Amino acid sequence: MLKAIVADYRAVFKNDPAARSMPEVLLCYAGFHALVVYRVSHLLWRTRYCKLLARILSHLGRFITGVEIHPGALIGSGVFIDHGMGVVIGETAEVGDGVILFHGVTLGGTGKHTGKRHPCVEAESIIGAHAIILGPITIGVGARIGAGAVVLKNVPPHATVVGIPPTQRVILNNTPL
Ligand SMILES: CC(C)(COP(=O)(O)OP(=O)(O)OC[C@H]1O[C@@H](n2cnc3c(N)ncnc32)[C@H](O)[C@@H]1OP(=O)(O)O)[C@@H](O)C(=O)NCCC(=O)NCCS
Repeated sequence: MLKAIVADYRAVFKNDPAARSMPEVLLCYAGFHALVVYRVSHLLWRTRYCKLLARILSHLGRFITGVEIHPGALIGSGVFIDHGMGVVIGETAEVGDGVILFHGVTLGGTGKHTGKRHPCVEAESIIGAHAIILGPITIGVGARIGAGAVVLKNVPPHATVVGIPPTQRVILNNTPL
C-alpha cells in the first residue's frame, strides 16, 4: 500500500507541471488525497469483517475530496486524478498503473449488468474531463478518451475516442502526447 501511495505522489509531479513542492502536493491535491483514502479503505474492504468501515471511510473521503471511489475497485499504482471533483469509480472497476483521470470522469455501470459491471481502464490511458465510461468494457493500454466523450464499447490499445455515440470517432494509433 505504501509503495502505491509513493507512486501516486510521484505521478503528481510527472503529470502536473503546476506541482511545485512536497507540501503543496500533500496538502492541496484532492485527487492524491482521494487515492490515499481509497488505498486504506480497499485494505479494510479486503478484510472480511470491515466492509462497512471501508464504506464509511470511503464516504468520508468523498465529502473531503469530491471523489467517490468504491473500496472494492482495483486501482493500480502511479495513478493521477487531476482536480478530482466529480470523479466516480464503481465497485468492479479496474484502473491500471499510470492512468490519468481528469475531474468529472465516471467509470460506471449501465444498470443492465450484474456482477462485473464497471469498466477496466488499462495502464497508461488518459481519460479526459467529464468522460463517461459505462459497462464491463475495456479501455486498451495507452488509449485516450476525449473530454466529454461517452464510451459504451471496448476501445483498442493506443486509440483515441472523442465525442458521443452515434457520431463518435475512433482514431487508431495515436501519437504520444
Ligand atoms: C482527446 C484528446 C486527448 C485528443 O488529443 P489529440 O490526439 O491531440 O487530438 P487532436 O487535438 O489532434 O484532435 C483530433 C480531432 O478530434 C477532435 N477532438 C479533440 N478532442 C475532442 C473532444 N474532447 N471532443 C470532441 N472532439 C475532439 C479535434 O477537433 C480533431 O478533429 P478534426 O480531426 O476534425 O480536426 C484531447 O483533445 C482531449 O480531449 N484531452 C482531454 C484533456 C482534458 O480533459 N483536460 C482537462 C484539463 S482541466
